[in-house]
Amino acid sequence: MTGNIIKFLREKEYISGEALAQKLGISRVAVWKQIQGLKDMGYEIIANQNLGYCLVSRPDLLIPQEIQRRLFTKYIGKEIYYYPEIKSTNIMAKEKALHREDGIIEGTLIIAERQSAGKGRLGREWVSPAGGIWLSIILYPQLPPSYIPRITLMTAVVVVKAIKICTQIESQIKWPNDILINEKKVCGILTEMSAELDIINWVVVGIGINVNIDDRNFPEDIYQNATSLKEILGKEISRVKMIQIFLQEFEKYYESLKSRKFSSILKEWKLYSHTLGRKIKVDMGERMVMGEAININEEGALILKKEDSELIKIISGTILQ
Ligand code: BTN
Repeated sequence: MTGNIIKFLREKEYISGEALAQKLGISRVAVWKQIQGLKDMGYEIIANQNLGYCLVSRPDLLIPQEIQRRLFTKYIGKEIYYYPEIKSTNIMAKEKALHREDGIIEGTLIIAERQSAGKGRLGREWVSPAGGIWLSIILYPQLPPSYIPRITLMTAVVVVKAIKICTQIESQIKWPNDILINEKKVCGILTEMSAELDIINWVVVGIGINVNIDDRNFPEDIYQNATSLKEILGKEISRVKMIQIFLQEFEKYYESLKSRKFSSILKEWKLYSHTLGRKIKVDMGERMVMGEAININEEGALILKKEDSELIKIISGTILQ
């Protein structure tokens, strides 16, 4: 409902309460109430007795209508669930993903301004104050479960591209899913799924980008290793624009992936890699291995060359150094 009123307010410089009431099929009092609601959300609207209402400025909130207004995708982001604050967009997305038969469609987005219990990989907490982009995408790919790491790598490439398009900043990918700028983490990706032996039931790709966040809003222990686009640029950027670009690129790359064209995506991943060619230590859960990161294979696995020249294939792990 509020979405419609925003649309009409945007169409003209001034629009009368009566015209709005007519277009929306509601009373003038109801229009007034909606206008108050928008003002409370941060929309600046002036009311002139003779001319009516005029939209002066919009807040940088991730309201679905704002995102969808200039979103040129076929299905990614066509349905958006927006929350000022929830525990975790991934948790919410996983609950919704189960209900495909109730109309949850591929590309549905869960977005929050803040997360009170954001989830990182390996059960870690993901600090998610206002100003960041915290979103999850629900997917139903007809791909084998072995494609999951490729979806994560693809998403990392899309984030690097979106950052570059929006800010001109070059970022790098630390395998499998950290996006770094100047050696500090600016984005993390958490891919979760439900699968059977040979089919994926659903995938939730959670993306957290530190956009308009002051360094001092990171807790002490994270501060050393995290950064935000605002800190690097010295100014805030439009999160709505960034999401639109991200979603458009995401759909393009996801379509390629679904057509099993991963080679070109992998090529790009390697171009942005922070990991390849480095001597690293990887925590594989049950053990640690050290060696040189020499390749990422077609499955998205990291190939490590140990001191004794033995090659190890790592599908899941965390690089410690
Ligand atoms: C990591 O690097 O550890 C992954 C971090 C992923 C964070 C995002 S923010 C949006 C989505 N919701 C969550 O709870 N987590 C992911």
